[in-house]
Amino acid sequence: MSDQVQEIKEKLNIVDVISGYIRLQKAGINHKGLCPFHNEKTPSFMVSPSRQNWHCFGCAEGGDIFTFVQKIEGVEFKEALKILAEKAGVALKYSDPKLRTEKDRIYEICEKATQFFTASLNSASVILDYLRGRGAQEKTISEWRLGYAPDSWSSLLSFLLKQGYRETEIEKAGLILRGDRYHDRFRNRLMFPIFDSNGRVVAFSGRIMSDVIPSKTERADSGKYVNSPETILYSKSKVLYGFDKAKTEIRKADKVVLVEGQMDAILPWQDGIKNIVATSGTALTENHLSILKRLTNNLILAFDVDDAGFRATKRGVDLANELGFGVSVLDISSGKDPADFVKERPGEFIKLVSESQPIMAYYFNRAFGKFSTDKIEGKKFIALTLLSEIKRLPSAVERSGWLRELSLRLGISESDLKEEMERIEIEKTEMANVASSQRPAISARGRKEILSERLLALLLKKPELIAEAIKAAAVLPKNDFEILSALAANQNEFSATRAALSPDLRPRLDFLYLAGDYELEKADHDFDIGEEVKLLIKEIERERHKENLQKIGQQIRKCEAEEGLDMNQLMEEFQSVSNKLYKIDENKK
Ligand code: UTP
Ligand code: MN
Repeated sequence: MSDQVQEIKEKLNIVDVISGYIRLQKAGINHKGLCPFHNEKTPSFMVSPSRQNWHCFGCAEGGDIFTFVQKIEGVEFKEALKILAEKAGVALKYSDPKLRTEKDRIYEICEKATQFFTASLNSASVILDYLRGRGAQEKTISEWRLGYAPDSWSSLLSFLLKQGYRETEIEKAGLILRGDRYHDRFRNRLMFPIFDSNGRVVAFSGRIMSDVIPSKTERADSGKYVNSPETILYSKSKVLYGFDKAKTEIRKADKVVLVEGQMDAILPWQDGIKNIVATSGTALTENHLSILKRLTNNLILAFDVDDAGFRATKRGVDLANELGFGVSVLDISSGKDPADFVKERPGEFIKLVSESQPIMAYYFNRAFGKFSTDKIEGKKFIALTLLSEIKRLPSAVERSGWLRELSLRLGISESDLKEEMERIEIEKTEMANVASSQRPAISARGRKEILSERLLALLLKKPELIAEAIKAAAVLPKNDFEILSALAANQNEFSATRAALSPDLRPRLDFLYLAGDYELEKADHDFDIGEEVKLLIKEIERERHKENLQKIGQQIRKCEAEEGLDMNQLMEEFQSVSNKLYKIDENKK
C-alpha cells in the first residue's frame, strides 16, 4: 500500500488537490486561503507546494493530501486513498475483491442504477421529447446523466438483482421500498442523479411524468418530486446539486449562483452559467454555506424572494450575511423560475446575473414599497425592519454605508438610527454563535510548546541564529529539541536535516518550515527575526521556571500533608527558582 501512497503523492500536486476544494492565493512560495475546518475571516490556512503539506495556523489542523481529503470529505483513510488514486490515475491493487466495503457496493449500485435509467431514457422517446420541450440539449442530458425510471414496480430491482446485488443492499442505497414485498421507489419518473463533490452518484431525485405518460404504478397526485432517503452516502442537507460540475467555476468566478430546483441549475448551466448549484428543495443550511465558503464569499440567489417559501430560506440568508458572505439577488421580474426564463430568453440569464443587486437593496425596496414615509409610523416600521437587517452585517463599513442610505431616505439622522439599532435585539442564527465561541483548541497545548514551535519556525528562516537558540535547547519539548539538534548538526541544511531525523519527526519539520513562512508572511516590514528569537528564548526559560515553581509548590503541599519529604530543601529550591523568574521579569522592564 505505501508505495502506492508514494506514487499518488508524486503524481498529484497538493495545490491542485486543495484548490479543488477551496480558494487559494499565492503567498510567496506558498499558497494561503480561508481554512475550511474552522470559521475565519483572514486566511491562516497555508499550503506548501515544495513540502507538499498544509497547515492551518488558526485551528492547528494540518497534514498531507491524504489527511486533507479525509478531513474535508469526512472519510476514512481508505476512502481518501481511493479518491486520490482516481485523481492521480493510479490503479489501486486490492488484495481481495471480496473485501470491498458495503459503501463501495452501494456506490456501485447507484452507478448501475444511473446506467439503467439513462438507457431506459434513450428508449423512451416521449420523455426525451419532454426534455427537449423544456429546452435541454442532448449534450446536457448526457452530461447530467438524466434518465427515466420506467412505469413499473420492479424493473430496476430485477435489473440490480441480476447484476448480483442483494435486496438489503439495494434498499440501503435508497432505491427500493418494502411493502408486502420489495418494489422500486422511483416509478414513471424523470431521473436526476445526485452527485457528490467528486462526481459519484450518491442519490436520485425523480420528477413525476404522469402528465406526459399516464401511469399504472404512480398516482397522478403523488408528490411532484420523489427523492432518495438519507443513506450512508447521502445526506441532503450537505449535498448541493451540481456542485461537482460547478466547483472549479465557482472558485474562478469568485461567486456562486444558487437556485432551488434541478432544472433551474441544468438549463442556466447549458446557457453558460457554470458556477451554479441548486439546493434541491431544502432550505439553505449551514452545511451548504460552509461548503460554498471554501470557494467564494459571494452568493447570488436566484430564488423567488417574494414567495412564501422564501421564509424558510431567510434563516439561511441571515446566516450567510452573518458569516460574511456578500449576498445578492436576481431580479427575474417575470416571476418565472430560472429554467423557464432560460428557455424563453436564451443567452440573457448571464446579464441578469451581472445585474444582481445586494440583498440589502432588495430589503430596502421592499420595505419602502410596503410602508409610506408620509407618516411617522411608516418611517418607524421601515426603520425597524431595515435596522435589524443592517445590524446583522458583520462588516462595520457595510453597516455604516446602509445606515447612511437609510438616514438619507428617511430623513432621520444617522446617530438617531444608530441608537435605535443598538436597542434592537436580533436573533442571531445558531451557527454564528457557535462559530464565535468555537475557539481553536490551541490553548490545550502548553504555552511552552507554542513558544518553542514559533522559535523553531523562525530559526528555519534564519539559521545563523541557531547558536543563540542552543541556550534554550535543553528546555524545549523533546521533539523540538531533537529537531533543533539535527539542524545544528547538519549546518542547518534542510534536506540533510530531514534525512537525519527519524521518519516520525519529518512531518513536524515540514510543518515547522511552513510555519516559518507563515510567520514571515504576516509579519510587519520592520519585523526583526533576531530580536524575536531572543525574546522567545527568554520567554521559554521563563515558562520553564514557572513550570518548576508549580511542581515544587505541589510537592510542598504534598509535604505538608504527608511528611517524610524534606520541606526545607523544597523551600530553598522554590526560592531559587522564583529568584530566577524574578530576574527575567526585571530584565524585561
Ligand atoms: P418546484 O416545485 O419549484 O419544481 O420545486 P421545479 O424545480 O420548478 O420543477 P419543474 O421545473 O416543474 O420541473 C423546486 C425544487 O424543490 C424540490 C425539487 O428539487 C425541485 O426541483 N422538490 C419539489 C422536492 O424535493 N419535492 C417536491 O415534492 C417538490
Ligand atoms: Mn421549474
